[in-house]
Amino acid sequence: MIILGISAYYHDSAAALIIDGKIVAAASEERFCRIKHYNGFPSKACRWCLNHASLTISEIDEVIFYEKPIIKFERIIRSAIFYAPKSFHIYLKAMQIWLKERLNLRKTICRELKHNFGSAPKKVLFCRHHQAHAAMAYYTSSFDHSAILVIDAVGEETTTSIFKAEGNSIKLIEEQKFPHSLGLLYSSFTYYLGFKVNSDEYKVMGLAPYGNKHSEQTKRFINLIKHQLVIIQDDGALMLNEHYFTFMYGLKMVSEKTWHKLFGIKRRQTSDKIEQVHCNLAYAIQQVTEDIILLMAKHAKDITKEDNLCVSGGCALNCAAIGRLEVSRMFKHVYVPFAPGDDGCAIGAAMSVYGTRKIENRNPYTGPVFSNNDIEKCLKKHGIDYQYIEDFESLCEIVSAELTNQKIVGWFQGKMEFGPRALGNRSILADARSPKMKDLINSKVKFRESFRPFAPVVLQDYASDIFNINGISPYMMSTFKVKNSNRNYPAITHIDGTARIQTVSKSDNDKLYLLLKTFKKETDSPLLLNTSFNVMGEPIVCSPDDAVNTFKKSGLDILVINNYLIKKK
Ligand SMILES: [Fe+2]
Repeated sequence: MIILGISAYYHDSAAALIIDGKIVAAASEERFCRIKHYNGFPSKACRWCLNHASLTISEIDEVIFYEKPIIKFERIIRSAIFYAPKSFHIYLKAMQIWLKERLNLRKTICRELKHNFGSAPKKVLFCRHHQAHAAMAYYTSSFDHSAILVIDAVGEETTTSIFKAEGNSIKLIEEQKFPHSLGLLYSSFTYYLGFKVNSDEYKVMGLAPYGNKHSEQTKRFINLIKHQLVIIQDDGALMLNEHYFTFMYGLKMVSEKTWHKLFGIKRRQTSDKIEQVHCNLAYAIQQVTEDIILLMAKHAKDITKEDNLCVSGGCALNCAAIGRLEVSRMFKHVYVPFAPGDDGCAIGAAMSVYGTRKIENRNPYTGPVFSNNDIEKCLKKHGIDYQYIEDFESLCEIVSAELTNQKIVGWFQGKMEFGPRALGNRSILADARSPKMKDLINSKVKFRESFRPFAPVVLQDYASDIFNINGISPYMMSTFKVKNSNRNYPAITHIDGTARIQTVSKSDNDKLYLLLKTFKKETDSPLLLNTSFNVMGEPIVCSPDDAVNTFKKSGLDILVINNYLIKKK
């Protein structure tokens, strides 16, 4: 059974090839087209999937799309009528797109595939969006039964849903509908704080710990959100006060006039300085979001009676909320997949149609891989001097010495990771013990905002010595408190004393594991700073060519591509 899953036309387009329940290839389109959160048809990702498995489109049994367009269309029509006449402009704009290509999405997908690969697929199917999110989480988990909580902006008409999974089956138990959405509430604050919606939500989360939780202003903000902006029920169901929001019928997320009146501050423009009031507002919405997610999880537990919980959808990327959920011990096990966002729905939709638990490979390394020949050709093209170190242990010793010497290393190995996190195959690594390292990487390499924290990758066996963690965190999806906070590892400790951890074992990633082991032997530190291999505004590097380009234009000192070592002169 050969299935091609596709996510497209909202954000984070991706393609995934599932053969007999095994993820054979999966990648986001942004990595190939080099446009972050690309939302068009993922033709390059599809091409890579097909080439990787040496398949033609006619050999695919089923192509499956991550959303049911007719249900989404009905929701748009209903909203247009309900919010008329304010919805008129956005309705006209939406209609042009829908009548041209979305209403008959089967035809659009066939046309795209035929245009790119010469023939149309045998069959195109559609999967409910939240079902795809749920399947991505459950089928890649190790659970035999679980509650599943899906929280995102909106999929068709659903904004939050609770599923119960048992064996092969995933059953919807409850759902909440548009416009009452936690994802859209959080995105409204992303917008009001001057960040990019559907892209920069993690910046709001990074800013939140700089808020003063004891100040009267922060307390007032929390109170206003909880009592004016949204009604929150005991089961986590929420109702947005539509007086304050315009995303249902306009191009802007919120009514800026009413928000200004409510919070007493104007919307921050992107170029404006970040003031304490912005940090306080970020803190307030983060706090409310965490409270709501905890209520939703509690309700999921009550109605499913499960001890395991899978969390998926864009809001599952709120690693501070997931961290709080883990610490609460409400569930014995909490699992967030390596791609809980819409890119992961390409895998989820395909697994959903396959519909069995027989997923053999749960690891996130499903993307492009390059041969020595490809790498040498690239390095020669760029006229770069390199060393080929045959013995990987020797390479790790050299890199470890450079890291100890405070050098910043671009680490490119094997297959690219799927999902938003760099998990050691397209990573930038550095010594986390250095008090200057965070500012150095922010200013020399990533060129990004100074308030954003960096994350650590730690040998799994030592994780609980340094962090307040009980289990594992292989996909960097939760934050945990740093023990002896801010003393030993300032470069990866956020201002609130937490860190978003990746734990690594030999079976997770043997090369990264070996490097960490070598570094531990030399320094006694079992962890490194691990940030994605890109500069601000660009997607994570995919090919050796992307890696060399980033190496050249940034302050990276060392580049390692498989066994090739390149030092900056
Ligand atoms: Fe989604």
